[in-house]
Amino acid sequence: MAVPLLLFAGVVGATVLLAVLHLAQPGVPKAVAGSAIALGDAYRGETVFWQTCAGCHGELGKGGGIGPRLNGSPITLALVKARIDGGKGVMPAGLLSGGAEKDVLAYVASIIAAPGPRAGGAPAPARRSRSGS
Ligand code: HEC
Repeated sequence: MAVPLLLFAGVVGATVLLAVLHLAQPGVPKAVAGSAIALGDAYRGETVFWQTCAGCHGELGKGGGIGPRLNGSPITLALVKARIDGGKGVMPAGLLSGGAEKDVLAYVASIIAAPGPRAGGAPAPARRSRSGS
């Protein structure tokens, strides 16, 4: 019968998939200037930004009265991550973590001025087809 073989293949496939998914999420180094910052999906991050950050930092991070302008601001991603993790003043610590934080970091990377030459307009990542939400 081919069924046990299919079952075996399925289990192996699932195991490999889990291993790959795990490897795709390495521990994010603590925010230290110069360290590599893990970035997620800027497209998803834009949605997260709307929900979590825009209330204070304004539409597109252009400043909203409570939080400072981020759009075009010459700040580093290390600082952005440090603020998300640690907060400051009115900004609460730990607003995001894990994948959502990486996604927002990818989005913020596309609106801050540093380090790319195109202030406020780093190349948008190709939109991936999304299967479900
Ligand atoms: C409750 C309002 C509020 C929310 C929500 C908020 N922030 Fe802030 N954020 C602030 C304030 C206020 C500051 C200024 C803190 C200071 O320096 O005293 C700040 C500072 C920052 C800075 C540093 C800017 C600079 O020029 O020094 C970054 C980066 C930042 N926020 C990113 C984010 C991101 C990303 C999110 C969403 C995950 C977010 N913030 C959500 C209020 C907020």
